[in-house]
Amino acid sequence: MTADPTAVRRSALDALTAARSRTSALTDCVEDSELIAQHSPLMSPLVWDLAHISNQEEQWLLRAVAGREAMRPEIDSVYDAFEHPRATRPTLPLLQPAEARRYASEVRGRVVDVLESAPLHGRPLVDAGFAFGMIAQHEQQHDETMLITHQLRSGPAALTAPAPPRADSTGLADEILVPGGPFTMGTSDEPWALDNERPAHQRLVPAFHIDTTPVTNGAFLRFIEDGGYRDERWWTEQGWDLVRGHELAAPLFWRREGGQWLRRRFGAVEPVAPDEPVLHVSWYEADAYARWAGRRLPSEAEWEKAARHDPATGLSYRYPWGDEDPTPERANLGQRHLGPAAAGSYPDGESPLGVRQLIGDVWEWTASGFLPYPGFVAFPYREYSEVFFGPDHKVLRGGAFSVGEVACRATFRNWDLPVRRQIFAGFRTARDA
Ligand code: AVJ
Ligand code: FE
Repeated sequence: MTADPTAVRRSALDALTAARSRTSALTDCVEDSELIAQHSPLMSPLVWDLAHISNQEEQWLLRAVAGREAMRPEIDSVYDAFEHPRATRPTLPLLQPAEARRYASEVRGRVVDVLESAPLHGRPLVDAGFAFGMIAQHEQQHDETMLITHQLRSGPAALTAPAPPRADSTGLADEILVPGGPFTMGTSDEPWALDNERPAHQRLVPAFHIDTTPVTNGAFLRFIEDGGYRDERWWTEQGWDLVRGHELAAPLFWRREGGQWLRRRFGAVEPVAPDEPVLHVSWYEADAYARWAGRRLPSEAEWEKAARHDPATGLSYRYPWGDEDPTPERANLGQRHLGPAAAGSYPDGESPLGVRQLIGDVWEWTASGFLPYPGFVAFPYREYSEVFFGPDHKVLRGGAFSVGEVACRATFRNWDLPVRRQIFAGFRTARDA
């Protein structure tokens, strides 16, 4: 991205506008009563996300960047994610749908004015439009959260989208060798990279093999049919506790009926497609599958090296295909489709070594805990990353069909608890060379 202020203003406006069109699609497709309802104790009412998005936008772009007064100071605490756990949010004095929409459009109108004239250099918060990029990413992240709420909601489908394209994947190797040696992990020059992706640093990663594509439903079914969920050998102690405590026997949203596996996705029940990447497995299930297969999850550094290091040039790129932004031909992102493409799709998005679907389709669990890189500095607030650092959260990489383009790149780090299954997560496996 260039530092030319006109170009920065245009890309910031494009990113904010793209996020808002998704936010509107996710909240206009159901009745107001469904916006207020809590569809799962794991999630907020959709109307909370809607006003939280705008409250963050107001706090950062109108107050912190432009020095404006609070528009409605009394609501800040209602939309503070740390003050109120998700399960309790329906009991808060929430803005009702019409009011939340009005607040959102008032904030956005003022932000567009600020973006036209605010200086975009001179302090880190605004350099290269950072705060605007951060807020566009924040809205896209909540668009993904709202899509999870849609998946957990019962009743007929409210969202529709065309099926993803399918590419011919015959002849693809099962796994790819990534040669050993140092590579550049993280970034210091991606203007909108978030604090946890920084700074760029060298990592020594010995040679390893990694799956060419994410693990498919068909492969995961073989684990199920081999009694994987009933065999303690494959599970960590906490994983085995989870399996027994919750009687896990298949990915979330799967059920067996008349000898056939079915899955529910956004209100539609369909047979499980064997060639699609498996979705809705916890870290423990991914880890157990890998052990059963005689393999392991890749570390976060291995994942990033497979995704952006080019052994021919020694460079680390922004994406597997190079430094250019994502396109619909390269990756399944942005809720353009409401599910992952068949394993082996998106040849135009493959890495220099030929690894496919690293970006988009499904988030990929890695073996690693969420830790700061050497030289990490919290910016612009500790509650984005720093308070979550530690071994309790596992890192997920690569984004999914559910993630907006602006909130996904080969350095982007996501994290969650290893028990989580409702997120759009799958995995691929690796082994030492
Ligand atoms: C980075 C996806 C884990 O949703 O909890 C949204 C992003 N941070 N609002 C989350 C986030 C503050 C965060 N994740
Ligand atoms: Fe948030």
